[in-house]
Amino acid sequence: MEVIVSQAKARISVLAAQMIATLVKRKPRAVIGLATGSTPLGTYRELIRMHKEEGLDFSRVVTFNLDEYVGLPPTHGQSYRHFMDTNLFSQINIRTENTHLPDGMAPDAAQACRAYEDRIRDCGGIDLQLLGIGANGHIAFNEPGSPPGSRTRVETLTEKTRSDNSRFFRSMHEVPRYAITMGIGTIMEAHSIILLASGRQKAEAVAAAVEGPVTAGCPASALQLHASVTAILDRAAAGKLKGAYPSEPQKPIV
Ligand code: F6R
Repeated sequence: MEVIVSQAKARISVLAAQMIATLVKRKPRAVIGLATGSTPLGTYRELIRMHKEEGLDFSRVVTFNLDEYVGLPPTHGQSYRHFMDTNLFSQINIRTENTHLPDGMAPDAAQACRAYEDRIRDCGGIDLQLLGIGANGHIAFNEPGSPPGSRTRVETLTEKTRSDNSRFFRSMHEVPRYAITMGIGTIMEAHSIILLASGRQKAEAVAAAVEGPVTAGCPASALQLHASVTAILDRAAAGKLKGAYPSEPQKPIV
């Protein structure tokens, strides 16, 4: 795993956006895996800026998000579809039909999960996957204990994750108990992966993911087995790492 530790959160957002932009320029039909949550917001803002000011063209780009809450319709203010439409898709020239999220309202969730995997495969697989990390080491909604070979499926959210995410809901009671998530195995098939983390609340999970043993107890540690992962961290998130790492990429990752 290549690790980059930058001083500021703003810089990690820009670095991730530059990597995505490099891919999109080289491969206009790029298939990009996207995440929701607080972490990628700065990256999305930078991609919007690049589109508006520099003409970065998303017209042929295809996206697949990592996850979606079960039971929230796309119009719900906390659905991940709504998050993506608001924070990225509506502000760039991507075609809605090229943007994919798991269907959290599907009457047959298992079938929706299989269809999601098929769609990723039909589009040629994911070129670059952007990931955040949970304070418990989850990636997407693969909670601790998730099998490394897991595929897209319905996952029960842990109380830790529900309480971390309750800040976006009026009460803990409203936080969904289930989500459809890409599996660790699905994520590991992406050609390249960027793991973004900021803030000291992520420091323990980051240390376990980057320098700890590969264990189902820290789902993100599976990334150590992938050939092309770049972890882009701010100083706070890197606070519990033992190694010394550069502050800028040493080589292009895409
Ligand atoms: C979101 C996702 C989650 C988040 C993680 C960190 O699509 O898959 O794994 O990346 O929970 O969330 P934030 O960025 O809000 O700290």
